[in-house]
Amino acid sequence: MQSSQKLELRVGLAVLVLLIFFVSLTVVAVKKFGIDLPGCVTNIAAFTEGKVIERAPSHFEIHYVARMWSFEPANIELPTGADVDIYLNSIDVNHGFQILGTNVNLMAVPGAVNYAHIKFSKAGKYFIVCHEYCGTGHQNMITTITVSDHPAPVSIEDRASTPPILDDDAKAGAILVASKSCTACHSLGSSGPSVGPSFRGLWGKTEDLSDGSKVLVDGPYIRESILQPQAKVVKGFQALMPQLQVSEEEIEQITAFLKSIK
Ligand code: CUA
Repeated sequence: MQSSQKLELRVGLAVLVLLIFFVSLTVVAVKKFGIDLPGCVTNIAAFTEGKVIERAPSHFEIHYVARMWSFEPANIELPTGADVDIYLNSIDVNHGFQILGTNVNLMAVPGAVNYAHIKFSKAGKYFIVCHEYCGTGHQNMITTITVSDHPAPVSIEDRASTPPILDDDAKAGAILVASKSCTACHSLGSSGPSVGPSFRGLWGKTEDLSDGSKVLVDGPYIRESILQPQAKVVKGFQALMPQLQVSEEEIEQITAFLKSIK
């Protein structure tokens, strides 16, 4: 073997070892420290009204609307231990959304809905700030969530009139799609990466394939595309998708998520 080949082999091995190391770090962070992976950009019908909905005791869904230069709902109170699904939407320009002291860090993008999950185990006052420069009032774009044992009561009338944005499977799917980096190649909106077909409006569509045939995007097709990405390649795209290591349950969750992004 030539010395240049040896060097190549060594570099290749070093890259592999580093890759395994970083992936293990992520697994440790999730399993051992319970750190949630960042929420995913979902593209469900955007909302314009900020709301707190109590879905079940201690389980809340918050619809945040970002605008120049405030967040709605503003300054809310939640009970200690609250399990919260956060959905975020902007009605004007791009805004940031970071809950200081937690790992929730989202972008508020007009026309898109972003999702994150957080459990407030510790009482205290949490500050939410906009971290994307959005005009002259940017630095005033702050709101709070106060977590205590005796929060102000939350109105529950909305529960019946507002169906959940994502069901449990679709929420798990949203986090999987982000953690498996699907969105590096597939967009969730009208713009974004286009290495693979957009996920928006994909469910139920008939796709033209590169071999001239057609396929209906349904459960079996999505399952096959995840497990054998090269089996059916959509016309106009290259067969670049890697095989994903996922369980049957995870495939169902990803499918549930894809169904919900109309
Ligand atoms: Cu909104 Cu900065």
